[in-house]
Amino acid sequence: MTDRDVRIYEVGPRDGLQNEATPISTDAKLRFIDLLADAGLREIEATSFVSPRAIPQLADAGELLAQLTRRPGVRYPVLVPNARGLERATAAGADAICVFTAASEAFTRANINMTIAESMSAFRPVLQDARERGWWSRGYVSTAFGCPYQGEVGEAAVVGVARELLALGVDEVSIGDTIGVAGPADVRRVVGALLGAGIAPAQLALHFHDTRGTAIANVSAALDLGIRTFDASTGGTGGCPYAPGAAGNLATEDLVYLLDREGCAHGVDLDALMVAAHHIAGVLGRPLSTKVGQAGAWRLP
Ligand code: HMG
Ligand code: MG
Repeated sequence: MTDRDVRIYEVGPRDGLQNEATPISTDAKLRFIDLLADAGLREIEATSFVSPRAIPQLADAGELLAQLTRRPGVRYPVLVPNARGLERATAAGADAICVFTAASEAFTRANINMTIAESMSAFRPVLQDARERGWWSRGYVSTAFGCPYQGEVGEAAVVGVARELLALGVDEVSIGDTIGVAGPADVRRVVGALLGAGIAPAQLALHFHDTRGTAIANVSAALDLGIRTFDASTGGTGGCPYAPGAAGNLATEDLVYLLDREGCAHGVDLDALMVAAHHIAGVLGRPLSTKVGQAGAWRLP
């Protein structure tokens, strides 16, 4: 990897769809995942093995993962909150998992019905099993820039949770602006604290929701700080039922356009990505509302 190589971690099939009320067939989700791989994405978060009562839209996680045609060189991580989730994910053929907690107690309680400390206790055996099987793993730190229940979140809390997840053996932590409140100064503050605590840029991903239109500015600030992994959702869908006020994730097509203009290599073809973006917008029955989705790439006629 060169210093200008960027990893795009696609969360559309999971974060993008988990909060959608429209029923989406397993086949339509599988087609979306295939189109994302066609576009060159190499990490596609496929689904969640959470309580089907908590996230009804992803209740088909088992069938979806089992039916997925895996492409060589593509990783398909899934969310797993506990031992029951690991059992289901294992039965469906998972080999990459994400555990998820937060930097605020109130959100952690609302989202997974645990304290932050209880979440670490639940993840410890899950991550140990995953490591013994040679699986890849990631830990999410949600509400790192603000909590819908508690308000401001200090960077010391983010650093503390990130370090605990890394100590449990995750390969990387994804720092989430769950409700989309951060601006570039917040990115410099939080990422600065993480790097200052000795966490390497390669152990960090940033996960922006674009609720207030700041996600692209935040990516730009993070690139300047040496961060090279960004989560994004093709079609700009996304949100969490336990994060009131959250809008869609940063759109993958908007991220790809920025990275192209910045001269960063990422392996994703924008035209092919637009096919996936139009597919999911069509499935959801609404027009594609992302910036690049509407304007297209910029080329001379
Ligand atoms: P709970 O109710 O406290 O759990 O939920 P429980 O252990 O008491 O179990 C209750 C019932 O759920 C039982 O069934 C369990 O078997 C079942 P019953 O006996 O009542 O029929 N159950 C499960 N079923 C299937 N799969 C499982 C599972 N676990 C228990 N894994 C729990 C606790 C964690 C399960 C629940 O709160 C939950 O599933 N929460 C998930 C919420 C979620 O998925 N949120 C969205 C993802 S996080 C996010 O979007 C943020 C992120 O994008 C980053 C960012 O933006 O910041 C990652
Ligand atoms: Mg999210």
